Amino acid sequence: MTQQRTATINFNDGTPTLELPILAGTVGPDVVDIRPLYGKTGKFTYDPGFMSTASCKSAITYIDGDNGILLYRGYPIEQLAQHCDFLEVCHLLLKGELPKAAEKKEWDDRIRKHTMVHEQLARFYSGFRRDAHPMAVMVGVVGALSAFYHDSTDINDPEHREISAIRLLAKVPTIAAMSYKYNVGQPFMHPRNSLNYVENFLHMMFGTPCEEYRPNPVLVRALDRILILHADHEQNASTSTVRLAGSSGANPFACIAAGIACLWGPAHGGANEACLTMLEEIGDVSRIGQYIARAKDKNDGFRLMGFGHRVYKHYDPRAKLMRETCHEVLAELGLQNDRLFKLAMELERIALEDDYFVDKKLYPNVDFYSGIVQRAMGIPTSMFTAIFALARTVGWVAQWNEMISDPEQKIGRPRQLFTGSPERNVVPIARRG
Ligand code: CMC
Repeated sequence: MTQQRTATINFNDGTPTLELPILAGTVGPDVVDIRPLYGKTGKFTYDPGFMSTASCKSAITYIDGDNGILLYRGYPIEQLAQHCDFLEVCHLLLKGELPKAAEKKEWDDRIRKHTMVHEQLARFYSGFRRDAHPMAVMVGVVGALSAFYHDSTDINDPEHREISAIRLLAKVPTIAAMSYKYNVGQPFMHPRNSLNYVENFLHMMFGTPCEEYRPNPVLVRALDRILILHADHEQNASTSTVRLAGSSGANPFACIAAGIACLWGPAHGGANEACLTMLEEIGDVSRIGQYIARAKDKNDGFRLMGFGHRVYKHYDPRAKLMRETCHEVLAELGLQNDRLFKLAMELERIALEDDYFVDKKLYPNVDFYSGIVQRAMGIPTSMFTAIFALARTVGWVAQWNEMISDPEQKIGRPRQLFTGSPERNVVPIARRG
């Protein structure tokens, strides 16, 4: 029998020495199990931003940021992007295995049958301003789904969790496309069951009742790849938000709405939109130097959006695949000479050669390229993050489901290092100087 490895913490303030178990995963860094720390010593750990904290055990996604590796259930992202479509990847993330051919058909059919939303839900949209940001609409409408499915919100029943997962996967594209249609003042398009998942989304986005919409297969493949690459990413901010919201026993629709809210921020899913906004602001290749100088200036809060990553410090494997797709789409649409795309390619070239970016390992990330691809496809900038949310829904649901099934699961309740005033007495208002 191998001996349990341990780590010892010595305190120089009289607190007795503490021995803590070291746990090993299948791959990746070991973790020190600090759960007994507070009970045995009365001390907490301090780790804002979770720089050194594993918040859970998970068997879904593995990232090795130093070596640019991303695995879903053990499969490299490059192989999944090449051999599978998005719904196969959804099956993998949710159920642990890729579907066999017969299972795939059944799976696709099941999702297809749930793409419509309740007619009553469509009325929610008219409560929003026409210019509402699609993410504002998504947070509200996805959260509101819980009001429609009281029959399936027993989170301890695996069948309820499964049907909620299917409903979310199937309906989020419909909800996202409706937020776009509402914005442009066109009628909502009902989903069409003869189309596949991505074709159907494009049909609901760009189709109108006046004429048939025929999706371009190169663009369908590109969007499918965007969805695969964004499907899950371990314990990132929005996934941790979903887990934290779910740890209280909240229903899955409410938890996914919380994930959407977190994803919206520009340091996370909002980066692809922020990147395109930045490109528009730069406007011309001749102004790139000025913006690079601002990004390097410590006294200027400006950052090059679409560059850098918390985990990938060598390169982002998703960015490599997205770059390939980006060039394919620009060629298919004859857009290589478009002003903004030329600017983006020049920015990429300069940043990859500039010492500041090279030394700090700030490579273009997946959102740099996915924003460019989506713009080329005619998707408005404000929809980029909504499409990220659509893709990430499966990851959120898989992680939420894993958390609920984990016997070690507890309500998430971090502690703090208090820096405010110690106890003091209230002075009646007339006597406050
Ligand atoms: N432009 C200029 N300088 C940068 C950038 C950037 N995009 N990103 C980081 N730096 C600098 C930063 O100023 C700091 O410099 P110093 O060491 O001199 O203080 C150093 O690089 C390290 O930065 P950090 O903020 O400590 O790094 P982080 O790991 O906390 O942040 C990040 C990662 C993604 C939030 C950050 O790189 C960033 O803000 N990038 C732009 C936004 C973006 O593209 N986000 C999308 C991430 S990919 C999608 C996803 O997975 O959600």
